[in-house]
This record gives sequence, structure tokens and C-alpha cells, in this order.
Amino acid sequence: MIYRLWAPFYDYLFNSGPFIMARKKIFENLDIKPRSNILFVGVGTGADLQFIMDKDISVDAIDLSPEMLDKARNNYDATNFTFTEMDAQVLAFSRESFDMVIANLILSVVPDPIQCFQEMIRVTGSGGCIVIFDKFAPPSRELPVIKKILRPVVAIMGTDIGRHFEQIVKPYENHIRVEEDEPALFNGMYRKIILRKIQA
Ligand SMILES: C[S@@+](CC[C@H](N)C(=O)[O-])C[C@H]1O[C@@H](n2cnc3c(N)ncnc32)[C@H](O)[C@@H]1O
Repeated sequence: MIYRLWAPFYDYLFNSGPFIMARKKIFENLDIKPRSNILFVGVGTGADLQFIMDKDISVDAIDLSPEMLDKARNNYDATNFTFTEMDAQVLAFSRESFDMVIANLILSVVPDPIQCFQEMIRVTGSGGCIVIFDKFAPPSRELPVIKKILRPVVAIMGTDIGRHFEQIVKPYENHIRVEEDEPALFNGMYRKIILRKIQA
């Protein structure tokens, strides 16, 4: 519902200015191997797809909102891209289907981020990687008072500013290795995180 309303305006805010700079930086250094299978979880309007359009890869892009998916399809149509309406918490892919899973601005949005993360790990191949660009609460610290006040207001807009990345991944820490965890935007409120799925 909320992202149906966001769809017409989303790109003006999150595919421009500081966001596009941060996205560009994330993709600049990503090691995307030719012919790899990549999943975009909660692809939205497809703001990240512009950075991989010219690559020899196979892309699945899922989102719960048909309006957001339509935008992505219209903006970034390519024969190697498949767009599907799907819940990120119940991915309809078999285990280890992807070499890379890209989950930008989704763990702060889905109702159950732990379930979503579990699904992301399940569909990532052994030795594959999970890329995350998202906003999280500061690690090992309580949420600042201002954010506590703003949290319910921001939630009405379809996102949560109070989630701790460390709590989301804790149940799965034996399955992944954190390869990178860096500030990406707004003084580290948004982070770039790269995880490697440990070989079984
Ligand atoms: C903040 S947007 C991020 C979109 C895109 N990844 C980006 O970086 O711009 C969050 C997206 O998650 C989608 N979404 C929300 N809940 C979802 C769910 N349970 N399963 C799949 N997508 C969901 C929304 O429709 C929206 O497109």
C-alpha cells in the first residue's frame, strides 16, 4: 500500500543527489563475475539496475509492489532481467540459486527482517555474497532520543530507522562472514555491508 503511493515520487528522492552517489560507489567496487546469477531483493523502481545494465549476467528482481516493479520494468528493460512480484520473506527460489544477492533498502522495510535475511542466506550459493545498502541504528548503542521520537512517524512512510543490523544477522552468524561494513551516507546512518556465505 505504502509503496504504491511512493512509486510516482520515489526516484526524485532515492535515485538522485546523495543517494545516487552512494549507490554508484557501492557498485563501483563490486566484484561481479561474468555469467553470474544475481537477485535484487525489493528492487523497487530499479535504481540500482543502471549500474549493471551492460554486464553479461542473469538478473532476477523481485518486489511486493506491482507499481514499483512497473517502474523498474519500464526504466530498465533488458532480456537478461526478470521482474517478479514476490514477498522477500518467502522467496520462491530454490536454495543456493544465486551467486550474489543485493538487498538495498529492504531490511529496514520488510515487516520481519530476520525472516527476510534467512531467505537471502538460503538462496545464496556457498561462497556467494550478499550486498546490503541500508540504514541501521548505531551498533551496540541505544537509539538516540530524537530517533526514538521520529521512529513511529517515519514508520508511516514505510521504513524503520531503529533496526540494528547486528540483531538481524545474529541468528545466522555461523553462516556468514562480514567482509565489509562501511559508512555509505549521512555520517554512517546508511551503511554498505558485504557478507560472504561460508562454504558448507
Ligand atoms: C525503500 S524501497 C527500496 C527499493 C530499492 N531496493 C532501492 O534501493 O531503491 C523498499 C522496497 O521494498 C518493497 N517491499 C516492501 N515489503 C516487501 C516485501 N515483503 N517483499 C518484497 N518487497 C517488499 C517495496 O515495495 C519497495 O519497493
